[in-house]
Amino acid sequence: MPRGAAPASLRDHQQTLPVVTTPASALPTIIQGGMGVSISNWRLARTVSQLGQLGVVSGTALDQVLARRLQDGDPGGHMRRGLDAFPDRAMAERVRDTYYIAGGRAPTQSYKEVPIQAIDNPRELVELCVVANFVEVYLAREGHDGRVGINYLEKIQIPHLHSLYGAMLAGVDYVLMGAGIPLRIPGVLDRLAQHEPVTYPIVVTGARPDDDVSVRFDPAVVAIEHRAPLPRPSFLAIIASDVLAQTLYRRATGRVDGFVVEGPTAGGHNAPPRGKLQLTESGEPQYGERDRVDLDRLRAIGLPFWLAGGYGTPEGVLEARKAGAAGVQVGTAFAFCAESGMRADYRRALLQQVIEGSARVFTDPSASPTGFPFKVVQLAGTVSDPVTYDARPRICDLGFLREAYRQEDGSVGYRCPAEPVNVYASKGGDTAATVGRKCICNALIAAAGHPQVRAGRHVEPAIITGGDDLVGITRFLRPGATDYTAADVIDTLLGASHATV
Ligand SMILES: Cc1cc2nc3c(=O)[nH]c(=O)nc-3n(C[C@H](O)[C@H](O)[C@H](O)COP(=O)(O)O)c2cc1C
Repeated sequence: MPRGAAPASLRDHQQTLPVVTTPASALPTIIQGGMGVSISNWRLARTVSQLGQLGVVSGTALDQVLARRLQDGDPGGHMRRGLDAFPDRAMAERVRDTYYIAGGRAPTQSYKEVPIQAIDNPRELVELCVVANFVEVYLAREGHDGRVGINYLEKIQIPHLHSLYGAMLAGVDYVLMGAGIPLRIPGVLDRLAQHEPVTYPIVVTGARPDDDVSVRFDPAVVAIEHRAPLPRPSFLAIIASDVLAQTLYRRATGRVDGFVVEGPTAGGHNAPPRGKLQLTESGEPQYGERDRVDLDRLRAIGLPFWLAGGYGTPEGVLEARKAGAAGVQVGTAFAFCAESGMRADYRRALLQQVIEGSARVFTDPSASPTGFPFKVVQLAGTVSDPVTYDARPRICDLGFLREAYRQEDGSVGYRCPAEPVNVYASKGGDTAATVGRKCICNALIAAAGHPQVRAGRHVEPAIITGGDDLVGITRFLRPGATDYTAADVIDTLLGASHATV
């Protein structure tokens, strides 16, 4: 697929970056992790790709992200440029007509409600998802030959099929997926590359063995003139256990191309520790020997792998390469660099705290509705602050992390332990599971600068996630500087390994 020529604003930016040509067959040494909702946005991924490493956009909640960026007036016109490149013109126009507000909505105006992802999604939402995933990847790939990946959480199952198709229409090179067991994704990629209809089974709590609850998607809903086969992206599974890697290698429905091995110091969600949950004195999950991935067993599989979680240092890159890894996946260092999608005031406040030595990350065992430990950076005014958390009425209106469950009549219902407690209980949920839960759907999109505004004045608070490595990001600051770029991260990480490996 031909790539668009970069517009003036991007061309200016491009001139500041060295042009790096990496052979398509070479594996990247650095994967910039897919992060949060729009922390790894197209700008960050594009910058990293232009620097010869693998830039990855976050595929989480892109439907909401595109809808909100358009309602914010699409400064710079990037979303509209992406929409213009979408092969089904009428579909792209429907999205634009529904959400775009010239000049942007008033700051007190609520964002339009986008339907919540459900097994029987309305066509409008399927279209928004396909288009949004296309636009993010298209922009990340625009005007250069570097490779671009997209990252999804397996647990957010319902939008997978239409999201993947949108990303593949834009020519995504890699799909990365963690937070679940993505056995069926490789086969889905094979079929979507041929524009064939696909299904994805949804985990439904309480389902009977003969229940078949699947999402279906037929690429024919997108009107494309010449349906030539699409390149099949490489698939990397993000894992925290060599047993899971073996399972994926043996039983996946198609080719797995490699693994990202993520340890418990990584930002975002962490795999829970093996066995019974034990907490440290500070109330964080305790990890031990059993949580270590056996790299001998992983190497024996013979596929390339990358190490993640505290590897954002030159020594980390060297250590990973010595352990037989192709390289490292790095998140925190990129989440706080200038090209990150994090709201600028949060990013700067936290950089300042890191410089002063007061930044703190808490691995919260109960914040995430998924039940997985979630790393929460402590920052006043965000939901890490008990006052802010308590002041927020429980509302569930984005619903990405809802659990599908079988209702008495056999139909599928949805519930989230962060929704109002009585509502959750009325759906058969255990009220004990609601304690300390945070609406990370609303909070993560707020962290990217698109908080919902309710009744003209209640602004959704953010949540910031980052890895334990947050305290070490001063290593990327040049003397006297208070900010750094993605290029600073890559230069720092590769400086030593270029010399020695
Ligand atoms: C702000 C932030 C958000 C993240 N969100 C996700 C995510 O949505 N999906 C995912 O697979 N990994 C996520 N991660 C993990 C990164 O992709 C990466 O694996 C990890 O950050 C590597 O460890 P490091 O933070 O020590 O560099 C996130 C990390 C950070 C810092």
